[in-house]
Amino acid sequence: MKSQATLSYGGDYNPEQWDPAVWREDIDLMVKAGVTMVTVGVFSWARMQPDAETWDTAWLHEVIDLLHAAGIRVDLATPTASPPPWLGALDPAVRAVTPEGHRFGHGSRNHFCPSSTTYRERAIEVATRLGEEFGGHPGVVLWHVGNEYGQYCFCETCTEAFRGWLRRKYGTLTALNDAWGTAFWSQHYSEWGQIHLPGVVPYLVNPTQSLDHRRFASDLLLDCYREQRDALRPLVGELPITTNFMGFFDLIDYRTWAAEVDVIADDHYGDPASPDQPFQTALVHDLMRSLKHAPWLMMEQAMGAVNWRQRNVPKTDAQRRADVLRSVAHGADGVLSFQWRQSRSGSERFHSAMLPNAGADTRYHRSVRQLGEELRAMADVAGEHRRGDIALLFDWESMWTLQEPSVPDRSRQVIETLQAWYRPLWERGFLVDVVSATEDLSPYRLVLAPSLHLLRAEARETLRAHVEAGRGLIMGAFSAAVDENDALLPGPFPVGFTDLLGASGEQWWPLPDDGVQLRSTRWGQMHVSGWAEQLALTDGEALASYDHSDLGPAIVRKGEFTYLTCLPPHEVLADLIAEAAEAQAIRPDLGPVRSAAGAEVLRRGPLTFIFNNTTHAITLDLLREASDALTGIPTGDALTLSAGESVVLREVQQ
Ligand code: GAL
Repeated sequence: MKSQATLSYGGDYNPEQWDPAVWREDIDLMVKAGVTMVTVGVFSWARMQPDAETWDTAWLHEVIDLLHAAGIRVDLATPTASPPPWLGALDPAVRAVTPEGHRFGHGSRNHFCPSSTTYRERAIEVATRLGEEFGGHPGVVLWHVGNEYGQYCFCETCTEAFRGWLRRKYGTLTALNDAWGTAFWSQHYSEWGQIHLPGVVPYLVNPTQSLDHRRFASDLLLDCYREQRDALRPLVGELPITTNFMGFFDLIDYRTWAAEVDVIADDHYGDPASPDQPFQTALVHDLMRSLKHAPWLMMEQAMGAVNWRQRNVPKTDAQRRADVLRSVAHGADGVLSFQWRQSRSGSERFHSAMLPNAGADTRYHRSVRQLGEELRAMADVAGEHRRGDIALLFDWESMWTLQEPSVPDRSRQVIETLQAWYRPLWERGFLVDVVSATEDLSPYRLVLAPSLHLLRAEARETLRAHVEAGRGLIMGAFSAAVDENDALLPGPFPVGFTDLLGASGEQWWPLPDDGVQLRSTRWGQMHVSGWAEQLALTDGEALASYDHSDLGPAIVRKGEFTYLTCLPPHEVLADLIAEAAEAQAIRPDLGPVRSAAGAEVLRRGPLTFIFNNTTHAITLDLLREASDALTGIPTGDALTLSAGESVVLREVQQ
């Protein structure tokens, strides 16, 4: 079902930074640029409420009325990410505390303590006020609570909140002591009040305490989101309410948040200086599309340079265009940027915007306008959703356990491993769903589990049934090792799968920096670094083995189940995945394109998006006739894309 008739285009709009005369110019320029939606209010708390007793929203009414009159829809934000200085002065506990016990000062943003009653009451108050004033405004179509939730606070109130969370989770101290394994190092708790947040400790911290802290911190911020959302709900009717996520951001478990937002919205800032950016970005987009298995919204991206990396490189015109189109290709129903007009003051004065400091009469801004026109021409793709061909498993809690410092190798990089597995899928044009090991995997004939370190019993049962049904599973190193308490699962690893694999793991074996050799009749000699495991073979087949006196099989297969004890070279991983897909008769849907052959190709609805991310021209064969979605020009039977070029094809109706 179509959720929207148009693809939204626009960005954060911060009118509080400008005179009213500029608002009018902005809106005029927005219309010319094809802007259809802007996010207003994100950081305007101090403007809305200059002190504890005074409200001033007349300016906001004026801005929203002007936008509405121009046909630009508003995503109205509650300004609660940045409480004004007067609030921190009224009650210093509004400001969060670092693990070392320092309380944040003002002068930046996101400094609030998520358990501060003063903060939360005031945040609800401002959300309610906005809901009352604008809930029925015809120009407001989306509500945006806070901004990029994601911080820790180590104050006493948060410590007390942690204890409350643990009480609700465990019920009794006996259950907590058991789950946390507190027999170790004399950590047994006899009173709830003895429990601390894992802030500053002399040595390795209890890993379960740490894991629960991460779950708690994500839940605590979710409470902050929820109470504003719940205050808004009766005031805004059926309008969608959301907040902006940050991809694989590791302080929040977005899976638990996904059900609480009406539409998934993401902020993504790929580094234009990195040649790997296209596939890394595609992976994040696929995660977002998979969180609700529905179209999502690119809430923030940059049209050019950001200002917060060590070196902030602008985007080329081709990159700017590719990034906008890539979001749509991967299921976004709109692309908003940070921000509409470049700030003149403040920490983001060097951050790009849709309207640059240099003005509208610039090559840069003309390309922004051009993109507005292009999105209009492909609006019929809005609402189209495609289920992925292959499932790639990712769970925040599993990543958290791998980030614990007490694992065998602290350099194990969860996201890098995920990216390495994703890349061959992306190169061949498979649409990938990034899903949890605990969700329904029955729509997928092939499941990839690069880092399923934490394995819940229900996930083990689902995956066993999956393999037993003859479906494909490729599992990566250090998987099926710990339970939901981060305690070792007993027995040889991957625990619960050794019979299906025909091999059993005995020791994890991080490799020296210079790595080791692998032998394989199929791929010859190959070099791997990073991680290895000591495995004993029963009735599995070793596809590659280590040249090391104590290490045997490196890659093992039995039936449709393959296990990798290391991260093999790209070509080997690509081969294994392609083979597993072939065995399950899964072929990428490339629309009219015969083979991706060096390009990034993805079909969505009637359109096929093609990106040449290389530095040279490429030519693709077409199976069927198509035309350029923007110009309408027919392609013929081959299509040449220059370096960096993107093309969107529309298939000619028969
Ligand atoms: C985001 C944030 C925006 C802006 C942007 C700059 O994290 O939500 O307000 O700061 O980054 O890249």
